Amino acid sequence: MTALRSASSIDTIACVGAGTIGGGWAAYFLARGYRVKVWDPAEDAAEKLGRLIDAAWPALAELDMVEGADKSAFTVHRDLAEAVADAGFVQESAPENLQLKRELFAELDELTAPDVVIGSSTSGYPMTEMAVNLVHPERFVVGHPFNPPYLIPLVEVVGGELTDPAAVRWAAEFYELIGKSVILMEREVPGFIANRLQEALWREALHMIDQGEATVEQIDRSITDGPGLRWPMHGPMLTFHLAGGEGGMAHMLDHFGPSLKSPWTRLLAPELTGQLRDAVVAGCDLAAGERSFADLVAERDAGIVAIRKLAGGQR
Ligand SMILES: NC(=O)c1ccc[n+]([C@@H]2O[C@H](COP(=O)([O-])OP(=O)(O)OC[C@H]3O[C@@H](n4cnc5c(N)ncnc54)[C@H](O)[C@@H]3O)[C@@H](O)[C@H]2O)c1
Repeated sequence: MTALRSASSIDTIACVGAGTIGGGWAAYFLARGYRVKVWDPAEDAAEKLGRLIDAAWPALAELDMVEGADKSAFTVHRDLAEAVADAGFVQESAPENLQLKRELFAELDELTAPDVVIGSSTSGYPMTEMAVNLVHPERFVVGHPFNPPYLIPLVEVVGGELTDPAAVRWAAEFYELIGKSVILMEREVPGFIANRLQEALWREALHMIDQGEATVEQIDRSITDGPGLRWPMHGPMLTFHLAGGEGGMAHMLDHFGPSLKSPWTRLLAPELTGQLRDAVVAGCDLAAGERSFADLVAERDAGIVAIRKLAGGQR
């Protein structure tokens, strides 16, 4: 593989796709002092991106911003070639559609120098399935963020069968260099790690709504006023280690192990009927109440900032 350019020499990053995630990445890269070039085919992309960066900036200023960061140091391009020209790294955040990603990767492969690493925000496609028919697939890496990428530190990094391990290491080091918490995965796992866990919860929640067993509001509160309060400090494993009392996880497993087989879960996905969709949407509208999208973003960001500050040294 061509030697990769040094991560510390990069001053310009291209964000391909600038919706919730690509726009959030753009805000984060700006806050870290990079120049950002954006490409997104939507007519209103520039306008939406401006709004997203404005909303993200106050929270970024509290936590991860470097001195001299300039929130206007971005340009939005009509032409993909122009957007990726002179970018030292590309973060792809186009819609989660396998064929679309394959076609876009082929374009990016052609338009970028082979020493440029391309990170994909995909929520679950293995790189092996996305990087097909490329001339230089060895520098395509998954860099899976969490919404909002400008505040949640975690990025899951994993390559595909054709990715050079050096590119995977490069991406992990690059994300760490810019202040992210990286999980470098040795092999491809559907949904990576965190989405696999989130999906399990999400499926159970949809089943409960579908069966009329819980409302949207009850499901959200069951986490925010319950187990969710423990998770910023300890993940699900250490949480259960403490739940075992002084006997720790060993007691936990011996005590509750048999109930693992209780028919509590229905992990197969429920049929996403129109009725279920409408019930979930209506429940969220009810939960949001008078709060607009912008109000909810501000509320979430202020909460994450406060929690990250509190969790401080441990995070
Ligand atoms: N939303 C999340 O919580 C989340 C979290 C982690 C990862 N992701 C992943 O990030 C990626 C983007 O998701 P999102 O939630 O930002 O979606 P989104 O719908 O908010 O944004 C997608 C953007 O891509 C643009 N777009 C459409 N066609 C394109 C193309 N051919 N090339 C480039 N851009 C194109 C759209 O105009 C839109 O602005 C997906 O792969 C998704 O799985 C999403």
